[in-house]
Amino acid sequence: MFQKKNSITKAYKGTEFSISSLEKYGLFILENGFSKEDLYTLSSFKKLFVKESKIQQKILSNTGGYELGNLNMGKCFIHLEIWNMMMKSKAIKETFNFFNVKKIEDLRQAGGNINLPKSLPQHFHRDSSLKNKYILIFIALEKITSNNGAQELIFENNLNGTNHLDMLLARYRNGSSLLNMNPGDILIRYSSTWHRGTKNSSFVPRAMPVFSISLDSKRLSNKDQINVNQFEKKISFSGNVLSKGGKFNILYIFLARRFNRIFHIFIYLKKLFKEY
Ligand SMILES: [Fe+2]
Repeated sequence: MFQKKNSITKAYKGTEFSISSLEKYGLFILENGFSKEDLYTLSSFKKLFVKESKIQQKILSNTGGYELGNLNMGKCFIHLEIWNMMMKSKAIKETFNFFNVKKIEDLRQAGGNINLPKSLPQHFHRDSSLKNKYILIFIALEKITSNNGAQELIFENNLNGTNHLDMLLARYRNGSSLLNMNPGDILIRYSSTWHRGTKNSSFVPRAMPVFSISLDSKRLSNKDQINVNQFEKKISFSGNVLSKGGKFNILYIFLARRFNRIFHIFIYLKKLFKEY
């Protein structure tokens, strides 16, 4: 029913951050920011995340997020190393500076996600309401394609309204876009941009560290600030909201697994006139 465009305009990609592209499409991909040596280091981080997810598999298999195939990533030493690498790059540093982030403490949060093999495609959603939107910065540690769970987005400029119905209409008229990324690409998007995680059809978990930036001008004086002492020495993963158990969550996971498509339609219908 919905068309999917796999190759789309390059207007939202470039080697210099463009705020007008972020405003227009809801995203921007910053390319070629890392040196060759740093790309090699990013690849070694990917291997560490994959190895650790396998070591922790037994514990992780008890979380709801595990059954759906998506887990959150805790902030750890790798985030600190990536931060230092990013600050070596003029283009990346300037991007953070644009949002008044000059040091790591100016960030809102660090974390990420890991998309496990055979994960389930998600329904389209926003990560926050429009009112409370913030900036998300995703770091590709490897090549990301339709094979290993690329993000699928609906461009902001295709929307004629703010609720789920408007999102579905935009998707029906203009399709959605799959974001292929090269190693070292940095995806900058609003938390409010409509998106979903897709299935990881490969045999390897796909990890992606994420940093976030608050758009609240008062952020430096409030609790929305990262604490540099809280970066763990160990890589950790945690279940998402659904991992907390409870009858509703068990039912949610069961329906999502068994009737994925119908389940998504049910969610869209329930939220048709809601923004978030
Ligand atoms: Fe999301």
